[in-house]
Amino acid sequence: MCYKYTYELINILILYIGNVKLKKLRGINTMKKQFKIIVMFLSFALLLAACGKSNETSSDSSKNDKVLKMATSADFKPFESRDKEGNIIGFDIDLANLIAEELGYKLDVQDMNFDGLIGALQSKRVDMVMAGMSTTEKRKKNVDFSEEYHRSGEMFLSLPDKKLENLEGLKGKTVGVQLGTIQEEGANELSKKYGFTVKPVDNAGVLIQELLSNRVDAVYMDSVVAVGYRDEQGLYGFDDPTTSSPGMAIAFPKGSDLVDDVNKALDKLEKAGKIKELKEKWELDQVSIE
Ligand code: ARG
Repeated sequence: MCYKYTYELINILILYIGNVKLKKLRGINTMKKQFKIIVMFLSFALLLAACGKSNETSSDSSKNDKVLKMATSADFKPFESRDKEGNIIGFDIDLANLIAEELGYKLDVQDMNFDGLIGALQSKRVDMVMAGMSTTEKRKKNVDFSEEYHRSGEMFLSLPDKKLENLEGLKGKTVGVQLGTIQEEGANELSKKYGFTVKPVDNAGVLIQELLSNRVDAVYMDSVVAVGYRDEQGLYGFDDPTTSSPGMAIAFPKGSDLVDDVNKALDKLEKAGKIKELKEKWELDQVSIE
């Protein structure tokens, strides 16, 4: 836009100089005209300088430079985990990238403990959280949620040579859970009826280590994630028949303007079949509940 004006001004200037030269040839007084040329040169220089400036600001505020700060807890494969090189990968990360792209943001992912995520939103250290987070009523008091994008259940895992096959079998045992999750809450409830001890651990990877090294008798976790560990480590698992967990959604600081935009993006991606594609890629639907 700005360069268009500059270009036009150059054209006028060339025409004008040509004209003055002609008049000079014809012997017409040119003092006044030369003054005009100087003024035009000066305005041309000013316009160019202004162009440079306005260009800087327009790229500053250009959409792709806007950063969307997202936090996750990368210990929850296939939703979010670290690959061998240490990159954070998974369904949530892919989906977050699609949303950011749709809304014209650059995505910045930060890794933290799951039980620190709500606090990070409340203190506005991040703009959103994607961490396979379930939309509980309790959390809704402190954060806002997008529409739900996935739903799964819970599973108990135990060692193959010390199989625990049902809730009654948990009596007197120690069950590990991830700190701050709905599984921690659920296990605390179930423990009253089935008489087991709950051991909270802050990282889901460490939780599996606790089981493999016999420091807990079972772990209680999201069934999509549990099935991954079950197959990878040859563990034994049974589904919790008692729970019906709320779906997973993206969380935001209360009152965030992003909720609407993200919901629109989610809807668009859903209609374009992109979410289904990602669920297939990360094999989420093998154990999901409709
Ligand atoms: N869905 C469960 C919850 O919201 C567990 C989520 C754990 N997520 C994670 N990234 N470790 O409480």
